[in-house]
Amino acid sequence: MVKVVICGAAGGIGQPLSLLLKQSDLISHLALFDVVNAPGVATDLSHINTGSRVTGHGKEGMNEAMKGAHTVVIPAGVPRKPGMTRDDLFKINAGIIRDLAEGVAKNCPGAFVLVISNPVNSTVPIVCEVLKQHGVFNPKKVFGISTLDVVRSSRFVSEIDSSMDPRATRVTVIGGHSGVTIVPVLSQIPGQKFTKEQLDTLTHRIQYGGDEVVKAKDGAGSATLSMAFAGARFTNAILEATVAGKTGLVESTYVNLSADPESTAAFRAKTGLDYFAQDVEFGREGVAHIRPLPHLSDYEQALLDAALPELKVNIAKGTAFITDNS
Ligand code: NAI
Repeated sequence: MVKVVICGAAGGIGQPLSLLLKQSDLISHLALFDVVNAPGVATDLSHINTGSRVTGHGKEGMNEAMKGAHTVVIPAGVPRKPGMTRDDLFKINAGIIRDLAEGVAKNCPGAFVLVISNPVNSTVPIVCEVLKQHGVFNPKKVFGISTLDVVRSSRFVSEIDSSMDPRATRVTVIGGHSGVTIVPVLSQIPGQKFTKEQLDTLTHRIQYGGDEVVKAKDGAGSATLSMAFAGARFTNAILEATVAGKTGLVESTYVNLSADPESTAAFRAKTGLDYFAQDVEFGREGVAHIRPLPHLSDYEQALLDAALPELKVNIAKGTAFITDNS
C-alpha cells in the first residue's frame, strides 16, 4: 500500500478523481493538494469507509503533501473555455507544472508522475526537463495521461456498431493528446470494416471529443467526469503493475521514448521525436516495454503524417520552457 498525491485535487477533475481513487485498496494515504479548498475535499472524502487515510494540503502544503509519495497525479491548472485550443493553456499551465515538478524532484524524486494538465504534449516534456535538471529523471516513470482518447474511442465505436461492447473494445491511440495529433488506430479493432464516411466521423469525433464537452458546458470548463474516470483507470493500472506486480497491463500513453530505447530507436531516428503516445506495457518499474507501432492503414498513415509536425512543435515548446529559462 502506498501514498498517492493528487495535485489540483479540489478542481473539476481532481474531486471526482480523488473520489474514485479513495476506493483503491492499493492506496494507504491519499494526499490532496490544491491552492484552494483541499482540506474541505479531504475531510469530506475521509469519511468514506475504505482503508486509505486522506489528508488535505493548502497553498503552503505542497512539500508536506508530496513527501515520500509513490505516485503523483497532476490535474492542476486551468481548463479550456469555448474557442480555446489546449495549446492556449500553455502560458498559465506551464509554470504550474514546472513548480509541481520541482516539488516532485525535492520531495519524492522516485515517484511515478502522471500528467493530466494540458497541453499534455508540452507539459510532459516540462516535467521531464525539470527532473533532468535535478538529476532524478527516470523516463520509465513519467506519463502523459491520454486515456480519455482511448475511452472515447471505445465508446464512440460502440455507438456506430452496437455489437461492440464499449468496455471490451480496446482501441490503440497513438501520437499525442490534442486535435490532429490524436491518431486512433481503428483498423486494428478485430473484425472491423468501417466505411470511409464512418472513419471520417469517428476520427473527427475522437480528435475533437474534448471540444464537444467544452461547447456543451458553455464556459463552465472542459471534460471533468469522463476525465476522472480515465485518470482513475490509468492510475489504477500503474498501481496494479508497480505495487501489486500484475503483469500484462497495457495502455496507450504519452511517454518519453528513451524509456525503451531499443524498441523505439528506429522510430526516433525516422521522426526525430523524443515523445509519443503508443501502447505501453507496464511493469514494476513503470514502462516495461513500448510496443512497436501497430500496422497502419493508408488512412491512419496520413493522419500520423499530419500529426508529426504539430507534435514536434508542441514538444519543442515544452522543452524550451525549461531549457531556455534556466
Ligand atoms: P479546474 O480549474 O476545475 O481545476 C484545476 C485545479 O487546479 C483548481 O482546483 C486549482 O485551484 C488547482 N490549481 C491551480 N494551480 C495550482 C497549483 N499551482 N498547485 C495545485 N493546484 C493548483 O480544471 P479541471 O477541469 O480540473 O482541469 C484541469 C486540467 O486538466 C486542465 O489543464 C485541463 O485542460 C486538463 N484536462 C486534461 C485532459 C486529458 O485528457 N489529459 C482532459 C480534460 C482536462
